[in-house]
Amino acid sequence: MKGIVLAGGTGSRLYPLTLSLSKQLLPVYDKPMIYYPLTTLMLGGIRDILIITTIHDAPLFRNLLKDGSQWGISISYAEQANPKGIAEAFIIGRSFIGDDSVCLILGDNIFYSEGLTGLMERSSKLLTLQGGAKIFGYYMKNPKQYGVAEIDDNNNILSLEEKPKKPKSNYAVPGLYFYDNQVINIASQIKPSINGEIEITDINKIYLKKKQLSVEILGRGAAWMDAGTHSSLLQAGSFIQTIEERQGLKIGCPEEVAYRKKFITKNQLMDLVKPIKKTAYGRYLLDLINIKSMQS
Ligand code: G1P
Repeated sequence: MKGIVLAGGTGSRLYPLTLSLSKQLLPVYDKPMIYYPLTTLMLGGIRDILIITTIHDAPLFRNLLKDGSQWGISISYAEQANPKGIAEAFIIGRSFIGDDSVCLILGDNIFYSEGLTGLMERSSKLLTLQGGAKIFGYYMKNPKQYGVAEIDDNNNILSLEEKPKKPKSNYAVPGLYFYDNQVINIASQIKPSINGEIEITDINKIYLKKKQLSVEILGRGAAWMDAGTHSSLLQAGSFIQTIEERQGLKIGCPEEVAYRKKFITKNQLMDLVKPIKKTAYGRYLLDLINIKSMQS
């Protein structure tokens, strides 16, 4: 399975923060935002990853994430000239995906929960075996600004709507999606919505019509945040700070995930630590090597 992080867009809801810097490079507490979705893919064992950015921001992302080999993964890059919607990711990423299945995560979506590694691994394996598509549902007081899924008691999806004025349910659809290879053709057939974008919800509706769409509810113990507005960016940062300071364990740390998932060896981690060993981040990584009992 391939992975795509969509980090394009204008970030207009975050102006003026995003006038000169991409939204997905803004800090969420102690790390650039993109570290969080990137490590979510890595937790699922997804190691071949495409980052889609704007032309303007591409060099900054390359500078930050390089080719991924330092973390035992492969990162390639593509550019979205004029943002035409999330579903465009599959058109831009067509040759990267090839004959494979794909997991798409939005670059401003942050997930944190006890079973996240298992959920990602399970979803990726099942999708590869069974095909179709998989989305998630997250209970929200007010899901109006998201994709909304109406789900019955047997976990069947009854309807899907993008940013409905009157949501039929409280389940928002987070920006994490698993698709089989059909998604490339489906995306290329979709017409733009009234706001000129090819919507991810329209792709999901086609899978739903084909009876090939499943949903998994993220329980109330899971945290899902999107850091796309001033308020949600601050909330996400505070959340990460709270958990990290309390536990002394980091969320969304690619070096740690790579080491724990055995994508890199102890020596490779040591090489990453050397140049930054005097920083707090470097000391954290050093502790990973030295303190064997550290909670995984
Ligand atoms: C997008 C999708 C929406 C989804 C959301 C998750 O909306 O269109 O269906 O629920 O991401 O973050 P956007 O945030 O781009 O407006």
